[in-house]
Amino acid sequence: MRIVVLRAFRPSLLIVVHKPVAVGGLCGLGGLGSELCERDWLRCGDAAFLRPGWALPSDMTTPSASTSGSNPSFNPGSNSGSNPGSNFGSGAHKPRPFVGGNWKMNTDRASGLALAKAVAAATKPLEEAMDVAIFPPFVYLPLISQALCDAGSKVMLGAQDCYIAEKGAFTGEVSIGMLKDVGVSAVLVGHSERRHIMHEGDDFVTAKVDFVLAAGLTCVLCIGEKLEQRVTGQTDHINELQLERGLKHTKVEQLSKLVVAYEPVWAIGTGKTATPQDAQSAQAHIRTVLAEMFGKEAASTVRIQYGGSMTAANAATLMAEQDINGGLLGGASLKIEDFTAICQAAAASVKA
Ligand code: PGA
Repeated sequence: MRIVVLRAFRPSLLIVVHKPVAVGGLCGLGGLGSELCERDWLRCGDAAFLRPGWALPSDMTTPSASTSGSNPSFNPGSNSGSNPGSNFGSGAHKPRPFVGGNWKMNTDRASGLALAKAVAAATKPLEEAMDVAIFPPFVYLPLISQALCDAGSKVMLGAQDCYIAEKGAFTGEVSIGMLKDVGVSAVLVGHSERRHIMHEGDDFVTAKVDFVLAAGLTCVLCIGEKLEQRVTGQTDHINELQLERGLKHTKVEQLSKLVVAYEPVWAIGTGKTATPQDAQSAQAHIRTVLAEMFGKEAASTVRIQYGGSMTAANAATLMAEQDINGGLLGGASLKIEDFTAICQAAAASVKA
């Protein structure tokens, strides 16, 4: 038996190698390349956690953008033609934009790594103006964590899901502790595909929100109505229910780590985008609900992303709206030109 000490500065981390072949096996897993096993990548991830750009700054406000424009968007039952604000006033400061790329079950080791490096390079000039996160598949997180670290990038590393226990007999699940261990600082919770394909219920979503926020990570809580709910005028009601249930145990002091992603289910992956007016109307209502739950001042700092077929072509008009503070992207996050253009539009949306 050999004992290998991987890190002198973290004596608790020992790997006990019973057979040399076990090292090869470990290194063959997912993104764990052989060089990774010899490198001090965890330290880099830990240090990155402490870099100011990785945590949400306490002052997340930036000057407001003007609202504008028409957009050839899908309109399956307009919520409003009047584009109401959330009673925060059109001159209110907008929170710092936040764009996330949800890669879903896409990429492989090589293409994921290349995409992460490209995102790090392309968003470097935008670091001061906004936050960017990528949500790769679980198995590539360590590899991409290392790549972001090597690039000195402030791009946040996110996970698409997590489980609600620290450890134990939960086959196939991944804990928050494991995610933190590889440098993850944000987690998607309640994504439409998990709610509607994996049938995750409200209580499960609430528990995940609680776990993510208790761990001090950024929680991106996804909410949104289905098509039949929109056409029957239930959009605000559904968003209200999902917010109130999801944030049932959340405390006002945890809001700096909360991001809400409004993603109408009918718009996700369909090429049908909500009109800027409809998205603004829904998101203004979301902010009003947050204000009722946590107070107006706290609610005004929460970033509310729009998600659902956001593209390089429609991003600027969507994000010009007062309560659209960035986007959560699926398809567009896999194309570096589109993702970059959307990040640039987000950064520009808060320039005077
Ligand atoms: P889409 O996905 O951009 O491909 O519509 C958005 C999401 O699921 O977050």
